[in-house]
Amino acid sequence: MLTAQRPALFAARSRAATVKVHASWQKATTKSALQAAGGKLVAELGGQRVLIVEDAGEVFAVSNKCSHLGLPLQGKTALFTATIKDSCVVCPAHNTAFELASGEVKGEWCPKFPNLPVVGKLSEKKPLPVFKVRVSEGGDVEVDV
Ligand code: FES
Repeated sequence: MLTAQRPALFAARSRAATVKVHASWQKATTKSALQAAGGKLVAELGGQRVLIVEDAGEVFAVSNKCSHLGLPLQGKTALFTATIKDSCVVCPAHNTAFELASGEVKGEWCPKFPNLPVVGKLSEKKPLPVFKVRVSEGGDVEVDV
C-alpha cells in the first residue's frame, strides 16, 4: 500500500522542481567592464540583446529592443545612443522614457513621433521588458533571462 503512493509523491516533487528551474542566471559582464563602458552596455543573453545599465550605483537590465517599434535603445551608431535620465532609459528614436526598475513608460509615449490621424503613434503604450539582475561579491553582473 505504501509503495503505491510513492510514485504520486515523486510526480508532485518533479513538477515543483520544473517551476524552480525556469530561472536562468547568466553572466552578462563585470561591474568594472560596465563602468569602463560608461555605465551602459549591451549583452547577448538567451538569444536576446539586453541593455545593462548602472545608474546611481545600482545595476539594471532591460530589453535593448524598444517596445514601440523594436528599434535598439543602444546600437552601434551615434544615432542609437540611449540616454539615462531621472532613473529612466530614454529611447533615442522617439524619446519615450522607460523606468529602469519597472520598464513602465514615464511621461508621454513617443513625444518625438508624429501623432498620425489614422494610425496614431502606430502602437499602444507598452512597458519595456526588464530582467532581474544581481552582482556577485567578485563583481560579476548576472541577469535572469
Ligand atoms: S522606437 Fe523607441 S520610442 Fe519609438
